[in-house]
Amino acid sequence: MRVLLTGATGFVGKHLYPTLVGAGYEVVCASRHPERARALEPEKRWVQCDVSDPDSTRRALEGCDVAYYLVHSLASGPGWPEREVRTAEVFRGAAAAQRLERIVYLGGMAPKGVPSPHLQSRLLCGEILRGGLVPTFELRAGMIIGAGSASWKMVRDLAERLPAMVLPRWMSKHSWPVAIDDVVHGLLSVLELPKELAHHYDLPGPERISHQEVLLRVAHLLGKHPVHLRVPLVSPRLSSYWIGLVSDVDFELARILVAGLSSDLDPKPPTLWSLLPPHRRLTLEEAVERALQAESLGGPAVSAAVRGEPGVEPGAEPRPALRSESAPGSVGHGREPPSAPAP
Ligand SMILES: NC(=O)c1ccc[n+]([C@@H]2O[C@H](COP(=O)([O-])OP(=O)(O)OC[C@H]3O[C@@H](n4cnc5c(N)ncnc54)[C@H](OP(=O)(O)O)[C@@H]3O)[C@@H](O)[C@H]2O)c1
Repeated sequence: MRVLLTGATGFVGKHLYPTLVGAGYEVVCASRHPERARALEPEKRWVQCDVSDPDSTRRALEGCDVAYYLVHSLASGPGWPEREVRTAEVFRGAAAAQRLERIVYLGGMAPKGVPSPHLQSRLLCGEILRGGLVPTFELRAGMIIGAGSASWKMVRDLAERLPAMVLPRWMSKHSWPVAIDDVVHGLLSVLELPKELAHHYDLPGPERISHQEVLLRVAHLLGKHPVHLRVPLVSPRLSSYWIGLVSDVDFELARILVAGLSSDLDPKPPTLWSLLPPHRRLTLEEAVERALQAESLGGPAVSAAVRGEPGVEPGAEPRPALRSESAPGSVGHGREPPSAPAP
């Protein structure tokens, strides 16, 4: 079975590729700049594909049975929400024209209240793709922990570099951080599900944790013991300025991501996990240890988009050794809401 992997130069795509190949799929990697991608990773098969351009998208999909949609336009400057709508519409049309068997899209988890512009846009892309003729599985993740993830990199930089931990009120909001290994497991497994189950499914990690608890646990794993400074009135918007000062993540991207953290992000049943054979998800500590280890070994590097650069692939950043071997936290205790029957 031939798979088109859009976003193959990105964080999730780089992690997913070896697992797909290991599972026996023939993988065609898509990029707007295939020559550059090929120069860096010549062992992969590359195809030119700009999902805002119907012709190149149709050509890239030729001969493929299924496709992953792992694309976002956050780094493309003002007007990105309109571009995300357009790219999803183009992809939906091209996939239908090629009579694809299924699309797998990784988007974001819906908050209880009004979604931030970023989450709103991710949800809309899912709606557009699922509204087409090709059965589409939309998996919704919150923060993904793994080498090269923008949200993980922000947390890591804050935990590592801030001598005093600044804790605004929005940091007491909760989410279910998930390890990239488990996201990859979900993205692969969904290819085996009956296409009648095509729908949106949340992809939570094993534990509900506040943003500040995530920061404190990561600091602990890095051997840091920052002083806690409670600053209840600092808004997410204001916070993005000091995050921009401390983290290497592109400031505009940090601002967009932080806006998405100001509501609790809780999964709605049925989650993807309830449809799959039992699978033990990594704890936050296990996920963080793997991310730090992968970074120290030069694992999947932060994508150009994360650094706010137009498409130049980075060299991996060397990481300091892990200073804490054992960490508090629990192993795989799923405390998800009970599952309802699949739609
Ligand atoms: N990272 C997280 O923590 C996280 C959490 C939840 C959900 N997700 C979802 O996971 C998916 C992948 O995210 P990521 O973190 O892997 O992104 P990323 O590292 O920033 O990579 C973005 C990818 O999008 C591709 N791209 C952008 N515009 C394109 C276009 N017009 N045509 C074709 N390709 C285009 C880029 O490829 P080229 O530059 O090579 O063309 C790049 O590979 C997104 O849907 C995101 O919402 C991520």
